[in-house]
Amino acid sequence: MPIQDHSRHETILVLDYGSQYSQLITRRIRECNVFCTVVPWDTPLAEIVALQPRGLVLSGGPSSVYAPDAPHLRPELLELGVPILGICYGMQLLAHYLGGEVEAAGEREYGPAQMRVTDPDSPLFAGLPQYLQVWMSHGDRIRALPPGFVGLAQSEGSPYAAMANVDRGLYGLQFHPEVVHTPRGIDILRSYCVRICDCRADWTPSSFVDEAVASIRAQVGDGRVICAVSGGVDSTVVATLIRRAVGDQLTSIFVDTGLMRKDEPDEIVSDMGALLGDSFVHVDARERFLLALAGVTDPEQKRRIIGHEFIAVFEEEAQRYGAAAFLGQGTLYPDVIESASTPGSAAKIKSHHNVGGLPERMKLELIEPVRLLFKDEVRAVGEALGLPERMVQRQPFPGPGLAVRLIGEITQERLDALREADAIVRQEIAQAGLDRAIWQYFAVLTSLRSVGVMGDSRTYGYTVAIRAVTSEDGMTADWARIPHDVLARMANRIVNQVPMVNRVVYDISSKPPATIEWE
Ligand code: XMP
Repeated sequence: MPIQDHSRHETILVLDYGSQYSQLITRRIRECNVFCTVVPWDTPLAEIVALQPRGLVLSGGPSSVYAPDAPHLRPELLELGVPILGICYGMQLLAHYLGGEVEAAGEREYGPAQMRVTDPDSPLFAGLPQYLQVWMSHGDRIRALPPGFVGLAQSEGSPYAAMANVDRGLYGLQFHPEVVHTPRGIDILRSYCVRICDCRADWTPSSFVDEAVASIRAQVGDGRVICAVSGGVDSTVVATLIRRAVGDQLTSIFVDTGLMRKDEPDEIVSDMGALLGDSFVHVDARERFLLALAGVTDPEQKRRIIGHEFIAVFEEEAQRYGAAAFLGQGTLYPDVIESASTPGSAAKIKSHHNVGGLPERMKLELIEPVRLLFKDEVRAVGEALGLPERMVQRQPFPGPGLAVRLIGEITQERLDALREADAIVRQEIAQAGLDRAIWQYFAVLTSLRSVGVMGDSRTYGYTVAIRAVTSEDGMTADWARIPHDVLARMANRIVNQVPMVNRVVYDISSKPPATIEWE
């Protein structure tokens, strides 16, 4: 499914030729306060035109321009009358199709390189030093420039590390400006957007809020909206935007499943009440979920039961507040890209959402105001909306909550033990000042029991696993290198303070092959 919608803001469009960095280009350009979105390289022209881009970026990619089925440069793009920046493969495409020569470099140039800017007057490099550290990753390189082009920079491995045809608004970079190993790369991208594409660079969290509020108002009219809020930053931002747009036409429902972390429901009720006023409804469904989950140990079945129960509670509750026509949902940009580019993945992604299946059942039209944002951008919007810090910085938390961190049977007693252990993990991480650096950190109560000694008696207690990972986006993750003394304090407190637990282990698996959650 192509990405049809777009911000009303000036847009730079990245055409994705298969580079692992395409999304990164998008993020970097957005960091320059210019709205940017990515589409597959062969997106139909009419869709590209509909997005009204002020400039295009052709991403890198794994192909060689001479390969028989290599993705190509579509000549009609050159007729759009907007500037084009080719990065790596994108640059080679420009060179190849416009009459230059691309050759296989003797050996692949990979890694850091020193580049000398030979045309310091070029708007791409204005204000930058003559020598720049850049990141190269290419097998082919340009031997001869196409007619009308000039070289802008050189490196040892690339006689044309940058090129331009200023009259036609065509630019090429052999290196990757989007990666952190090109320290001034963001300045080069900013120059492209601002000096060459003439963007105003005024896409900020607060301009996003104004536009989102106006567009929700236009979409909803005088209809009614319902929204499930979980205390997470995505649903909170969505509900707050909708509330701002249509006031009391919104009903936002928080279902307390009893599967939240320690003190969380109280915090959510007080924070959400303050933010959402009369439109906030709190439903205590703890007993109902515990009953439905009694005796269940299979992870998939737990998820199914929770999803099913959630929809039932939400539906019952929603109906008490009058028929709604719209459902607010916190879909994020990575979900959109993933479902657009991976056939058949949409269904899988939906199973991560609590209200999957609801829109069809209740015949609701979706309102997804943050579907074009990355998580950290949603956080910035949250800040612009005045959300409390603890909400803006809240870790991702799975919809099925502690149920998927409690291996084996879910009982009140085991849930309480897990909540205590988890609270200790969170306190110690915060105490050590590590909470911003780690993506997610939590305790898992396993079903494994082992023999131990406490005082003079033998114990047969459960093992708690501590899980803490660093990640950019949740898609891949690495285990966090927590200092040993912090781990020691956590383990010691957990064994001493949490009943039924006599052993603590630290999970050192990355994702893949493991996942972040244990179930
Ligand atoms: P995994 O465990 O798949 O998790 O590595 C990736 C990210 O997704 C979160 N997660 C969920 N979020 N409902 C959600 O809303 C779910 O069922 C669910 N399962 C995993 C997980 O916490 C991590 O951030």
